[in-house]
Amino acid sequence: MTRPLPKATLKPDQTKKVTEERSHSGIFLGEKCYWNPTTLSNGHILIIGMSGSGKTQTLKSISYELPKLFPNIRRVIIDYHGDQQLPDEVYYPLNMESPYGINPLTIDLDTKGGGPALQAIAVAAILRKALTMGANQEGLVIEILTKCYKQQGIFQETPSTWNNKPPTFQSLRDEIQYRIEGGCKESSKLALKLAATFEYGIFTKPQPSLNLPLIRFDLSALGKVPGLAAIASEAILKQLMDSHRIMGEIEGKEPRTYCFIDESKEVKGSKTVNIIAGDGRKYGLCICAGSQQIAEFSKEVIANTATKILLMIDQTQVKAVSNTFRFSANLVAQLQPLQALVRMGSEGFQTDIKPFYKRYQE
Ligand SMILES: Nc1ncnc2c1ncn2[C@@H]1O[C@H](COP(=O)(O)OP(=O)(O)OP(=O)(O)O)[C@@H](O)[C@H]1O
Ligand SMILES: [Mg+2]
Repeated sequence: MTRPLPKATLKPDQTKKVTEERSHSGIFLGEKCYWNPTTLSNGHILIIGMSGSGKTQTLKSISYELPKLFPNIRRVIIDYHGDQQLPDEVYYPLNMESPYGINPLTIDLDTKGGGPALQAIAVAAILRKALTMGANQEGLVIEILTKCYKQQGIFQETPSTWNNKPPTFQSLRDEIQYRIEGGCKESSKLALKLAATFEYGIFTKPQPSLNLPLIRFDLSALGKVPGLAAIASEAILKQLMDSHRIMGEIEGKEPRTYCFIDESKEVKGSKTVNIIAGDGRKYGLCICAGSQQIAEFSKEVIANTATKILLMIDQTQVKAVSNTFRFSANLVAQLQPLQALVRMGSEGFQTDIKPFYKRYQE
């Protein structure tokens, strides 16, 4: 039995009224469509569209305009294609030659839910998923990482030691090597799994500060090795969530930080993205993610995202996407590049997105 299509939910009269109310305090997305997360239940945004539909242009427009609405906003761009450049950015390319790295072993300093033990567990889980390891190897990683923290004088039961300099993946590599020399076969298998990750060196180099107005991590060089971009993304996202929890809940509705992720397949099924979608709002951490496939977002992420921007999609996806976004399949099927159906809370808008290239010229 086929279910009836959802009703068209665009109401032009209502749209007009809402547009007028918001026009002075929101970001102009396109004609008659202004966006202001403080008027919504949360600031998260999902953007869905096929290749060439306008995801990158929409995402960059939002990112570019955000400081006009929130002058103190911090923006962190996780860039998988190297095409997210914005004016005034601080640029951190992550590749073999770059001096920059990410340290997944950076500890969550929250005494209620952080420390080296939980970090070791979290990193092992990230590695297991990104590199498809088994439960034994995951257990071995936890054991080795716990030792690495101890070697740095960092102990779970003594939070004052959590501020010591954390180990890097170099310590992990050294410890695995030490065990191999001692005849540990499981360590040899683990070394094989982690060989490419170690070779790239991005998890052993110094990590730059995340505490700047606009930073872009360019992960485009990591695509050649499966799992690397996913590990780096998880590490960045986890550090952002952890540091926001430490800062405490925000008083009003003004967000502190937006994290942009174009092409979300690298973080598909990410635990951290789910946590940010669920808890980030309280701490002022919002996510804006773009993808070609609705299936790349978990149910939690979809349910916890107040703003959904639907661009032109492949005809085979019309039904699923129109159901999820609650727009009529007819409207969805007719979208052209840079035309969008925007859902903000319970309201829907149809608009032509003003692309970034029309907002800013070098
Ligand atoms: N500088 C520009 N000048 C004119 N048109 C542009 C410019 N940059 C992009 N476009 C057009 O804008 C549209 C949207 O492009 P965009 O890069 O945002 O698509 P996308 O959804 O991110 O695609 P992909 O999934 O392949 O990354 C495309 O039709 C593209 O040709
Ligand atoms: Mg793109």
